[in-house]
Amino acid sequence: MSTENVIEIRGLHKSFRNGRDKVLQGIDLDFPKGTLTYILGPSGTGKSVLIKHILGLLHPDQGEIRVYGKNLADIPDRDLAEHRKVYGMLFQNSALFDDRSIFENVAFPLREHTRLTEEEITKKVNNTLSHLGLKGRYDKLPNELSGGMKKRVGLARAIIREPSILLYDEPTTGLDPVTRTTVDSLIEQMKRELQLTSVVISHDIPSALLLADHIAFLNQGKVAFYGTPAEFRKCDHPLVMAFLEAEQRTVKALVQ
Ligand SMILES: Nc1ncnc2c1ncn2[C@@H]1O[C@H](COP(=O)(O)OP(=O)(O)O)[C@@H](O)[C@H]1O
Ligand SMILES: [Mg+2]
Repeated sequence: MSTENVIEIRGLHKSFRNGRDKVLQGIDLDFPKGTLTYILGPSGTGKSVLIKHILGLLHPDQGEIRVYGKNLADIPDRDLAEHRKVYGMLFQNSALFDDRSIFENVAFPLREHTRLTEEEITKKVNNTLSHLGLKGRYDKLPNELSGGMKKRVGLARAIIREPSILLYDEPTTGLDPVTRTTVDSLIEQMKRELQLTSVVISHDIPSALLLADHIAFLNQGKVAFYGTPAEFRKCDHPLVMAFLEAEQRTVKALVQ
């Protein structure tokens, strides 16, 4: 297999409830180094299940997931914690600890997984937060922050251990348009500055068309389309066309 691909998925099948819910039905996907891939598709089609396989939180019924050439199934349990350092993950609701300060939220992975001194942790957390545009007091609690600020904190926590793969599960869902734009520019900034291999699960077609190197459109557990944003625009798959049309209707409704 090629070393150019940071993640390779081959023949991935996954079902639940003893095979009654067939969710992923033969997924083949490559994620080349340093690229940004958007995974689009209707709700319930298996996008989050796919990301959980990449993280090694779910195990395939059939097929394999290779990360840096290594089949996840072959990584012994004792090496999993070490392996997971390669991933950063931004969850939909940012998944911050409500009762911990901004600072402690971002420091958490360092306290859990490293032996850095308090001084080193302080320096790293402060640098990362200010780099992501968070100015002001880091002793505030998450509920004192706007949606966009929470995303910045979630992102700071996701990258604090310097991952090489960054996964986002619906980073803009439920946000207002201005905050969405902010999150889009953060995704772009992360990719450009840190050369991360990025995977974004989303419903957000404009963001995908703007930012993605590749788009994968999942439907009914299969990859219905894979290609560049330009190819996606020209794609004649009925469901992709329906998605694009729905998007245009939404845009028209917004500008009227
Ligand atoms: N741990 C699980 N156990 C049983 N069913 C699950 C589990 N995780 C996801 N599913 C089912 O798999 C399907 C796809 O879910 P998901 O990947 O979350 O969809 P989405 O594309 O919206 O992210 C859904 O029908 C969901 O109910
Ligand atoms: Mg999901």
